[in-house]
Amino acid sequence: MATKERVLSFLEAHKGNDISGAMIAESLGVSRASVWKAVETLRSEGYPIDAASKKGYRLANRSDILSKESIVPFLKPNSRIKEIHVYKEVDSTNTVAKQLANAGAPDGVLVAAEHQTAGRGRMGRQFYSPKENGVYFSVMRRLPFPAEVTTLVTSAAAVAVCRAIQSLYGIEAQIKWVNDVYIAGKKVCGILTEASMNFEHQTLDYVVVGIGVNVTAQEYPPELASIITSLDQHTSEPIDRSQLIAAIVNELEDFCENLSARTFLPEYRARSFLIGQPIRVISPMQTYEAKAIEIDDDGHLVVQTADGTTKTVNSGEVSV
Ligand code: BTN
Repeated sequence: MATKERVLSFLEAHKGNDISGAMIAESLGVSRASVWKAVETLRSEGYPIDAASKKGYRLANRSDILSKESIVPFLKPNSRIKEIHVYKEVDSTNTVAKQLANAGAPDGVLVAAEHQTAGRGRMGRQFYSPKENGVYFSVMRRLPFPAEVTTLVTSAAAVAVCRAIQSLYGIEAQIKWVNDVYIAGKKVCGILTEASMNFEHQTLDYVVVGIGVNVTAQEYPPELASIITSLDQHTSEPIDRSQLIAAIVNELEDFCENLSARTFLPEYRARSFLIGQPIRVISPMQTYEAKAIEIDDDGHLVVQTADGTTKTVNSGEVSV
């Protein structure tokens, strides 16, 4: 790792604290002059690094530039994440994660971006991903499970997002089957899970879970303004996007350790606000009115139509 990245790692790990240039230099085994040079470069890239004459350098708490170095301190020890790629701008973090997987990347890749130019949602929709207003990231895992678990991975991710925002900011979030996280009736997060099969073994080759969370309020396009919200509208806590990404990744990783045990399902059900509601099911074949009854053990939505027929919905979309 180059000196600049090592200095950044050090400052991120001690964010908000003064550290002398001598201490950084000694810890990294480099000269004080090269620490100074690295700090100057980081400043020119926008990092708010204060220098109090005697005390040394301090990366300000308000610093919220995404980098591998800013995320790593928040990942749990022995995290399964083995590679982290952070971009200023990318078409879609899911697309990049899939490209890395297809090129042979190992289990446990995290791809994050400040901005997506072609963020993708379910059903071929666009996911609006404006610069620095959100977190947009994808986790690629090679999980030796049958392809059917893809829905469960999405469910696990939705619970992971809810838990992370509850533990960090005390916000109570809910889930709209299958992949949306809501706060106070508006969407704050979308999840897109894409899987690739290993046909020889009839298991997943890899799964990419892409998560987009709206963090700060922005000028939404008119068609979105009344239906989406952002975290900053529900908390006065400062939001450190690297901490948020890592908290979600940590929670998701716990669930994926033993996905077939479905430890997240009770919480998924408890947070599902559609249950008991009249809904419209928009499936690839037909659209119909029904009542949402329950989430089954595979994460599918069970509904009842007006004539009393029970149906299991495992694709498509529902609206209230
Ligand atoms: C949806 O709302 O239908 C799902 C949206 C998923 C968005 C995330 S942002 C990170 C990752 N990259 C993408 O292109 N999509 C997912």
